[in-house]
Amino acid sequence: MLKQIVKPLLSWYDGHARVLPWREDRHPYRVWVSEIMLQQTRVEAVKPFFERFLKALPNVKSLAECPEDELLKLWEGLGYYNRVRNMQKAARTVMEQYGGEFPADYEKLLSLPGIGHYTAGAIGSIAFNIPMPAVDGNVLRVLSRVKASYDDILKQSVKSNMEKEVQKIIPADRAGDFNQALIELGAIVCVPNGKAKCEICPLAFCCMAREKGIVDELPKKKAKKERRLEQKTVLVLREGDRVGIRKRSAKGLLAGMYELPNLEGCLGEDEVLEYVRECGLSPFRILPLAGAKHVFSHVEWQMTGYVVSLEETESMDHDGLFFIDAKETEEKYPIPAAFAAYVRYMDIVLGQERYEER
Ligand code: ADE
Repeated sequence: MLKQIVKPLLSWYDGHARVLPWREDRHPYRVWVSEIMLQQTRVEAVKPFFERFLKALPNVKSLAECPEDELLKLWEGLGYYNRVRNMQKAARTVMEQYGGEFPADYEKLLSLPGIGHYTAGAIGSIAFNIPMPAVDGNVLRVLSRVKASYDDILKQSVKSNMEKEVQKIIPADRAGDFNQALIELGAIVCVPNGKAKCEICPLAFCCMAREKGIVDELPKKKAKKERRLEQKTVLVLREGDRVGIRKRSAKGLLAGMYELPNLEGCLGEDEVLEYVRECGLSPFRILPLAGAKHVFSHVEWQMTGYVVSLEETESMDHDGLFFIDAKETEEKYPIPAAFAAYVRYMDIVLGQERYEER
């Protein structure tokens, strides 16, 4: 029954596909970088990151050899930093095992770090025309609607079934275009937020959800687990033009990135000053800052903040803290967007905003 979508979908794609930087040249490295960036991030937001990343690291070798801080800096603002760490691991494997060339083999792609069924299918089909599916959230939405299926798309079994169904109908001569056409339809016609544009949809003729009037009810996603809440107190420690930052642990959330010093809990001025003195520093002024929150996939940080002005001293190395010129942070040290509300008090900008302002 799904077979009937192939022709109209490809014809529609030929006339309506957006011109995107990773579609002009389908080199596997470019396809890979774009597909990893596009997981969790919108096309418009990805574009400037993609261009800059490719300029700085034009091939697998340069990525494999890139120092970690530089790599995280290039990813700053995109979030989900393990994506780029895994990319570097995969790049090293491609250098060591495949002489720097991506293997044109689905199973081999799948075995690389950070490459799951979706990404292996996307790289395989787009760069090498391997007829394997690339089923992401867009595709799940489109197909749930075409089939009028109430199956929970967050379930692995539902996704696997969808992959099997797509695999049966992938056209051998245009595997990459077919996968991208399904994604594209989900991104610009069968949209996730707001009204689906059924009146211009090439699959309207066979869409069961449209026929039954249930497009808005699909796809079905069962409620996710609640996020853990964490209270934090974030400090902007100013010593003249310099600000205190520290490196996060190599494991766990935002591993290896730099951060403003912060303490667990929602602390008052006295507790903050006590901590600062324990660090061997001499505070002479403290100002409370507005609260802020940042939402990760499993945790939400609820933050309070303070600017603490310090007497100039020989800098101590306490709690990994070190003082650097604020401008230098902007150039060199990757700081996650979670701290954006407080980094503003350093008079620098991070990640996404850097692209927007320059
Ligand atoms: N989202 C994920 N992959 C994509 C692609 N190749 N083109 C547009 N949007 C996408």
